[in-house]
Amino acid sequence: MSLTSEQVLQALSAVNDPELGRDVVTLGMIKDLTVQGGKVRFTLELTTPACPVKEELKASCQQAVAALAGVESLTVELSARQRATRPALGSELAREVKNLLAVASGKGGVGKSTVASNLACALAAEGARVGLLDLDVYGPSIPALLGLKHGELAYHEDTQLVAPMEKFGLKIMSMGFLVPPGQSVIWRGPMLHGQVDFFFRKVHWGELDYLVVDLPPGTGDVQLSLSQLVPLGGAVVVSTPQDVALGVATKAINMFEKLKVPVLGLVENMSYYACPHCHQRDDVFGHGGARETASKLGVAFLGEIPLNSQVRQAGDEGAPVVVARPDSAAAQAFRACARLTAGRLSVAAVEGTDALKSNLLPVP
Ligand SMILES: Nc1ncnc2c1ncn2[C@@H]1O[C@H](COP(=O)(O)OP(=O)(O)O)[C@@H](O)[C@H]1O
Ligand SMILES: [Mg+2]
Repeated sequence: MSLTSEQVLQALSAVNDPELGRDVVTLGMIKDLTVQGGKVRFTLELTTPACPVKEELKASCQQAVAALAGVESLTVELSARQRATRPALGSELAREVKNLLAVASGKGGVGKSTVASNLACALAAEGARVGLLDLDVYGPSIPALLGLKHGELAYHEDTQLVAPMEKFGLKIMSMGFLVPPGQSVIWRGPMLHGQVDFFFRKVHWGELDYLVVDLPPGTGDVQLSLSQLVPLGGAVVVSTPQDVALGVATKAINMFEKLKVPVLGLVENMSYYACPHCHQRDDVFGHGGARETASKLGVAFLGEIPLNSQVRQAGDEGAPVVVARPDSAAAQAFRACARLTAGRLSVAAVEGTDALKSNLLPVP
């Protein structure tokens, strides 16, 4: 009896996506399956181009099918269709953005902008279309971190909306492009709301898989406006080990729960000292605090970013460390964190946000 597509699908239904906890057939990831004699061919359609487990998943599919009797040749192509956490109805602002990802912290100086810019670059490097919006209206640092200057904005020809700046494969917008350096803005809540609205209504973002939003520190008007204006796919909370101990991260997580924004996970920045000379690791501030806090609060732990002068230097020179030194320990940590974050957004998109609670990641 010759091989049938049903048999192939049956075999593939034993392959689970480890991130999403469902099999690849149920998830609709098997496309264009053809079986001709013993020749099997199909496309494995990932839920995001930044899929953290693409090679592993492809290998599992190959293994499952190769084990069938009568398979002579097997071709598996990889493709990706970005799933959206964005609901079908609701806010019309930035409709073509599939996932809005906020990066937040309970206080300043923990490395939020550093994490936001590196996450954005890491997602773009995986092949996703990524934007980076700096909403830290009081202290916009994204322009400096990416080596961009005030006053270089242009208009998008067709729409006459403001065109975001482009660098490192990202579309970038910041208050820092509008206000001359050294000048400060003093705004009340309604003005801030108007400004956040402007960044969505008057900027031509175009189609994006992810828009990473760098928030001001704390729990204030900008956070509130943002969550009212657009549906956020999720938030990544950044903390240093000391702030974890002081409960600052917990406050930020609680805020998002109140705003009904799913918390994708907690990142520990300046987690340990990675010596660039001897490559030894020193847990300057103790170890494991953020991991424990995450598990206590029922949120995923997205990784530890080392405290390393290369991270600061890269920022000072206007190129995030994942671009400037892609082989460094810090860049690897950022990439791992970006992949886990993308995976979490896919979980939320495919299975709904409740799945984020019940499907915590294995601790990396
Ligand atoms: N992992 C790190 N190692 C070394 N320096 C870091 C690290 N993360 C951030 N920094 C530095 O700390 C400072 C504050 O970071 P920033 O991202 O601007 O914080 P925030 O946005 O939370 O205020 C910057 O000078 C940055 O280069
Ligand atoms: Mg900042």
